Amino acid sequence: MDRVKSGIDGLDELIEGGFPKGRTVLVSGGCGTGKSIFGLQFLYKGALAGEAGVYVTLDERPEIIREDMMRFGWDLRSLEDAGKLIILDLTSTKLGVPSEERYAMNAPALDLDRLILKIMQTASEIGAKRIVVDSIPALGFHLKDENEARNMILKLTYMIRKSSLTAVLVSEVPEQSPGSGPMKFSKYGVEEYVADAVILLHYLGIGSEGSRTLYIRKMRGTKHAEDIIPLKITDAGMKLTNPEEAFRV
Ligand SMILES: Nc1ncnc2c1ncn2[C@@H]1O[C@H](COP(=O)(O)OP(=O)(O)O)[C@@H](O)[C@H]1O
Ligand SMILES: [Mg+2]
Repeated sequence: MDRVKSGIDGLDELIEGGFPKGRTVLVSGGCGTGKSIFGLQFLYKGALAGEAGVYVTLDERPEIIREDMMRFGWDLRSLEDAGKLIILDLTSTKLGVPSEERYAMNAPALDLDRLILKIMQTASEIGAKRIVVDSIPALGFHLKDENEARNMILKLTYMIRKSSLTAVLVSEVPEQSPGSGPMKFSKYGVEEYVADAVILLHYLGIGSEGSRTLYIRKMRGTKHAEDIIPLKITDAGMKLTNPEEAFRV
């Protein structure tokens, strides 16, 4: 199986060299756990290595993302200008306001079929190898209609696989503590079955060192670390710290 480098320092060593190529990786966690940084770092490092990528943003405006990533010294704009990265703005579509972005979808509402088509067209325009959808819950399925969510997520991942794109799909789970009932891995409870891999991010958020963690719940076709791995976000982005000291679940 071919592997795609994750771009996250220390992660590839724990997953046999990288994400399975052409597969989908679900990255889930609470707010502020680093899901967007994870996705953007995957694209940024990939683009630097010559693998173009598309970032589909539904939660955050592209301008803000470019500004925030500059904090890490990542000049997204120059990668966009070089045709190595596209930020596809769907936040404005969601809000029903016009976008000032070159890549956006001007539609009265988010129509999932059109959206998938747009994503695929955008990806092929730069010969993208990587794609991030941030986030699945922001696509706005009706929670009560689990079937609709399941079908659309299935369709999206089917199209992504068909295009041989390696994907990071961002989902959300509320903060949960071990032992407080069955673990949740995604918003709709279907993403984790559809995805080939599930990575959970956690942030205790009480200031102490090492309060961020990453946990690989599953990765098809891969022998992966089974521990909870300490994680850090620094001025250089996200990295796993001392995975050899990872504590057991
Ligand atoms: N330069 C930095 N140094 C340390 N931590 C940072 C830095 N930039 C952002 N962060 C942390 O990353 C968090 C945002 O990560 P993000 O990927 O946007 O979270 P999510 O998408 O899961 O909500 C911030 O709340 C902050 O804790
Ligand atoms: Mg986010």
